[in-house]
Amino acid sequence: MKRIVLVTGGGSGLGKAVAARFRADGDSVVITGRNAERLAKAAAEIDARAITCDATDPEQVARMSEELGPDLDVVVNMAGGNTDFDRTDTETKDLGEVMAAWRANLDANLLSAVLTTTAVLEKLRPGGSIINVGSIGAEYAGNSYGAAKAAVAAWTAGLSAQVGAAGVTANLIAPGYIAETDFFHGNLSDERRKELVGATHNGRAGHPDDIAETSYFLASPGARHITGQTLHVNGGAYTTR
Ligand SMILES: NC(=O)c1ccc[n+]([C@@H]2O[C@H](COP(=O)([O-])OP(=O)(O)OC[C@H]3O[C@@H](n4cnc5c(N)ncnc54)[C@H](OP(=O)(O)O)[C@@H]3O)[C@@H](O)[C@H]2O)c1
Repeated sequence: MKRIVLVTGGGSGLGKAVAARFRADGDSVVITGRNAERLAKAAAEIDARAITCDATDPEQVARMSEELGPDLDVVVNMAGGNTDFDRTDTETKDLGEVMAAWRANLDANLLSAVLTTTAVLEKLRPGGSIINVGSIGAEYAGNSYGAAKAAVAAWTAGLSAQVGAAGVTANLIAPGYIAETDFFHGNLSDERRKELVGATHNGRAGHPDDIAETSYFLASPGARHITGQTLHVNGGAYTTR
């Protein structure tokens, strides 16, 4: 297929795998991220176009949207991650620090997707797809990361109603534990990893290709009646019934 696809956070992990999947089918793929060097390397590797952009910065998102050109078929809002992993004091009772920490996760995961989608919405052609990325963490939202991802899911359902008449779908992929990404900043203990894999029904970690194939399917002609949904990709670690 020949489409124009934007993948935010496409310089590593799940975003890079998604970008490579669309590119493998001949689509034109644009990837974004903050780390220009890593982004350029990934773009060269998968033959995509790189646009450096912090998805939480309205001015940078507006500029990225201009550089993108007039048309778009698929936007995958992959940029994000748990900003609490960068904190040293997660037990702080200082309300200013608590607010800053919660805002960081809301910015990274919710507002990044809202800003990008808003900026490119009118470029999306009929038959287009918006794919947002949540987390299994949203089902147990005891922290700002889970709450931010739950908010992305709620917003996606409303977005679907907003864009449906234009022939565009909006769905959310909620990954469980997926290995081989920078998500845990290299700090996942063997014990925690075993716990996460042990919670699955198929006894394995997710692979970036699991998310790439699901994204590709959601943007395919066979998925046009799937919209406003959360698709859990977690090996059974969380079931919807
Ligand atoms: N791996 C898992 O187990 C898992 C599970 C559930 C959900 N997820 C979600 O899956 C998504 C992808 O994560 P991953 O596992 O692939 O980890 P990753 O390798 O760390 O990828 C995250 C990507 O997002 C980019 N990014 C982060 N903040 C950004 C911003 N403000 N603007 C633009 N780009 C930004 C990063 O690039 P720069 O640093 O260069 O900006 C990076 O390329 C995230 O939304 C994450 O929350 C992952």
